[in-house]
Formats: sequence, C-alpha cells, structure tokens
Amino acid sequence: MSLDQSFTKPHEMLATLLADEMGAVNALIRDRMASRHAPRIPEVTAHLVEAGGKRLRPMLTLAAARMFDYAGDNHVKLAATVEFIHTATLLHDDVVDESAQRRGRPTANLLFDNKSSILTGDYLFARSFQLMTETGSLRVLRILSDAAATIAEGEVLQLTAAQNLATTEEIYLQVVRGKTAALFSAATEVGGVIAGQDDGTVQALFDYGDALGIAFQIVDDLLDYGGDSAATGKNVGDDFRERKLTLPVIKAVAKADAEERAFWSRVIEKGDQREGDLEHALALLDRHGAMAATRADALAWSAKGKAALETLPQSQMRDILIDLNDYVVARVN
Ligand code: IPE
Ligand code: IPE
Ligand code: MG
Ligand code: MG
Repeated sequence: MSLDQSFTKPHEMLATLLADEMGAVNALIRDRMASRHAPRIPEVTAHLVEAGGKRLRPMLTLAAARMFDYAGDNHVKLAATVEFIHTATLLHDDVVDESAQRRGRPTANLLFDNKSSILTGDYLFARSFQLMTETGSLRVLRILSDAAATIAEGEVLQLTAAQNLATTEEIYLQVVRGKTAALFSAATEVGGVIAGQDDGTVQALFDYGDALGIAFQIVDDLLDYGGDSAATGKNVGDDFRERKLTLPVIKAVAKADAEERAFWSRVIEKGDQREGDLEHALALLDRHGAMAATRADALAWSAKGKAALETLPQSQMRDILIDLNDYVVARVN
C-alpha cells in the first residue's frame, strides 16, 4: 500500500491503515447501540451514528495501541468505548446548547426531543462502561471513568463561565481541557496502557492527546465564527447565540473600548441579541486580530502535541499522529 503524505491527509491515512480494526469497532458500536426493550434507543443512536462523524477518538486509541504492535483485541473494545462516550456527550451537549444541526443532520433533540436525547445519552454512557469492563483492566476503567467525570465537569464549568464577560483565558482552558481534551488524552492513554507500555510512554501519549484535544477545540471554536456550515455539519454562530465566552471573544473583549464593551455586555451578558449582531461581533473579532491570535494559540498547542510524541521511538504510526496536529489546525481554512 502506498501512502503518500502529500496527497493523503493524516486522518485519512489513519482511516486507511486502521480500516480493518475500525470495521470491527463500527460493528461493535452497531451491536451495542441496539436495545431489545426500548425501540426509541436504536432510532436515536442510528440517526447519529449512521451520519458518520470523523471517528477521530477511536482511531487515536487504535493507533496508540498499534504504535507498539499490540496484538490482542481489547483496543477495539476500548476504541468503541471511547466513541460511545463521545456520542453520549454529543447527545447531551446538543440539548444543553440547543443545537439544531450535527453531522450535517438535524440534531436528535430537534428530530425527537430533549428527553430522548438525554436518556439515550445516559444509555450510551452505561453501555460504554459495560464494554470497558470486558477488557478486565482496572487501569483503563479508571482512566476512562475519570475522563467521563472530567468531561461532565468541563461542561458544567462552561455553563457558569458562559454569559460572564469576566471569564479569563485560564478558565477557558480549563473548560476545553475538561469537555474535549480529557477524552482525547484518555483515548491515547488507554491505547498505550493496553499495549503494556511503561509510565513515561503512557505519559507522552497522555500529553499528546491533551494538547491535540485542546488545539482541536480551539479550532472548533474558531469554526463556530468563521467556518462553513456545509463543511462542519454544524451551524455557524451557535456559540454566539449561546452567549459562550470562547477564546476569540475573550481576546476581543480584552481589547474592547467602552462602546465595544457595551456591545459585548448587551449580547453576551444580557442576551439581548438583534439582527446584525453576529456580523458586528465578527467585525470586532477581526478588528482586534482575535481570530488570528486564537489560531496562533491553536498552533502552539499543536506544536506541544508534536513535541510530546517526538519523545517516542520513530514509527509510521507515530509520524501520522504527529501530522494529525497539523490537520486539526488546518481545519480552520
Ligand atoms: C465534536 O467533535 C465535539 C467537539 C469536541 C468539538 P468531532 O468534531 O470530533 O465530532 P464528530 O464525531 O466528527 O462528529
Ligand atoms: C463539545 O463542545 C464538547 C462535548 C461534546 C463534551 P461544543 O459544544 O463546543 O461542541 P460542538 O460545537 O457542539 O460540537
Ligand atoms: Mg455544542
Ligand atoms: Mg457545548
């Protein structure tokens, strides 16, 4: 198989290299998302799961295990566990964010209702825990259950940071590390653990996932203002409507004059949003170079992610994972 890096994006290379195992992961996901007792469950899960998704997190687990020539099949179970946790958080997140579009489709909360999304999300969380116990490893159980708790903490912290113009970059980082990076780092960490790697290697995998996840979410927040809905499969401006203090806004608020501050206070703190406000917000982000500065932060995290993996022995898989740092930032364009 020829895999020319200049023509194939790193996530596509991962998908190609891991095609067999991802096939097994997807089969396991389909099998375990069913329910004999509640027909609403497969309706909701099928709607979301069949829409695809990049499957980035399960590929990270498989890739981390494969980097060390892991020969068992627990990595498949762990990868499916990770995607189940991800899917459960998406179901809950779209209710919390009142989002209408996900993976290019109407969200489950829109198509069904909030109750179905919350309860099916709970079901998927529970299924993920059943699945991970099948590996028999208490250590991966701890890592993934810690991650699930940290994700929920991040989402709740975001709840209280939203609508508050005093939110700092430090709090933002805490939110992002929790709600997004925790699952990336757990995904890579358990791959190394199941492959029996030493503490230093497992730490490097954790650091890589943490930095990659932070870069990924910063870029997601950029795309919420500057992205193309057809490409992201989500609506532009959701964060603005939800009055979230994401990094571009935090940076623009820090540079705001009195008139601009009054604008941010009206739309974010008071929630009094009118026609043309999103466009005005975009102009302010542009005026203060907030988008470019945010992108620079994403690049710095992606460099950290690369550096973490560069401490590990060279291999094809390692190099693709290193390149994945560029891919998550390039999504901006
Ligand atoms: C969406 O993650 C949630 C965030 C952390 C921004 P992805 O962009 O990986 O979602 P899918 O799985 O590809 O749809
Ligand atoms: C994603 O948060 C993190 C989780 C789902 C836990 P966001 O709300 O920022 O992500 P999108 O934009 O809805 O995918
Ligand atoms: Mg959301
Ligand atoms: Mg959210």
